[in-house]
Amino acid sequence: MKLKLAVLPGDGIGPEIMEQGLAVAKAISVKFGHELSYDYAICGADAIDKVGDPFPEDTFKLCMESDAVLFASVGDPKFDNNPKAKVRPEQGLLAMRKKLGLFANIRPVTTFDCLVHKSPLKDELVRGADFICIRELTGGMYFGEKYEADDKAYDTNYYTRPEIERILKVGFEYAMKRNKHLTVVDKANVLASSRLWRKIAQEMAPQYPEVTTDYMYVDNAAMRMIQEPRFFDVMVTENTFGDILTDEGSCITGSMGLLPSASTGEHTPVFEPIHGSWPQAKGLNIANPLAQILSVAMLFEYFDLKEEGGLIREAVNASLDQNVRTPEIQVEGGAKYGTKEVGAWIVDYIKNK
Ligand code: IPM
Ligand code: MN
Repeated sequence: MKLKLAVLPGDGIGPEIMEQGLAVAKAISVKFGHELSYDYAICGADAIDKVGDPFPEDTFKLCMESDAVLFASVGDPKFDNNPKAKVRPEQGLLAMRKKLGLFANIRPVTTFDCLVHKSPLKDELVRGADFICIRELTGGMYFGEKYEADDKAYDTNYYTRPEIERILKVGFEYAMKRNKHLTVVDKANVLASSRLWRKIAQEMAPQYPEVTTDYMYVDNAAMRMIQEPRFFDVMVTENTFGDILTDEGSCITGSMGLLPSASTGEHTPVFEPIHGSWPQAKGLNIANPLAQILSVAMLFEYFDLKEEGGLIREAVNASLDQNVRTPEIQVEGGAKYGTKEVGAWIVDYIKNK
């Protein structure tokens, strides 16, 4: 098939891991006879420096004209701890989500057996944990009315019925495709917005009689995730809770550098690692490219190209098995591979398959 990508490397380690992700996308396209084309666009701090806008109109246009967006990361320390900064790189990410209507953020929390020892949790708790967090991405406090003054500030956790219905539908449908267990995470004992979520979920649940639906307060869910991560199959939640819980989820698997995500909705879907721009590692060739590479797998799978996605996953697993790993996950005494070397190894694996 023909695939036109918008490539947004962003800041920090973004360009380095993107290079590897793109190399994998190219190798897969050659192998399976797809016609891949792509264009680069700027975003984040890079775009603020160049044109004063973290998600410029040209970038938006390119995204809209493409079949998918491959995104790496944004963020730069010069904007952190500066509450006076007028524009921030992160605003580019939020603008992209809003303008592309990316209301559903799919974040799989998958454990790799060979990395279980890296998890802060006990081996027997975390081994085999495998769930998906579906995070609402264009509503809630992130986008509700805000007020900010010296003596008072607020954010509004605003949700409408259609916004809640469409994301819960994604949750139920994912549960149907997996182990038919959906956990709706909210704070209905305190928040009005959560009570609406729960009410709508309860209305919808009978349409999915095969799915076991349970409801969990977010504080309890945060606890359960470390006590018994295998409890979860599919979890669906609002924007802010999903942000927090997926950071927790990524660290229980042992490495944040391994988790990809897909954001889908009204317009072009976006595929990106869940980790940030790790500015301290920029240019050092030490960042793990696997989350970016697995995001490419999710991209192909989104277009129903399962074999393509499968081969990428197989190559990633093989690289881990053979200890072709970046320093943060390398076994003791193992050779330390750089971002480029891991990427090149995976590309070779795909070519030779
Ligand atoms: C994420 C990030 C973003 C978020 C930041 C960078 C705005 O933490 O994608 O999880 O809070 O959504
Ligand atoms: Mn986050």
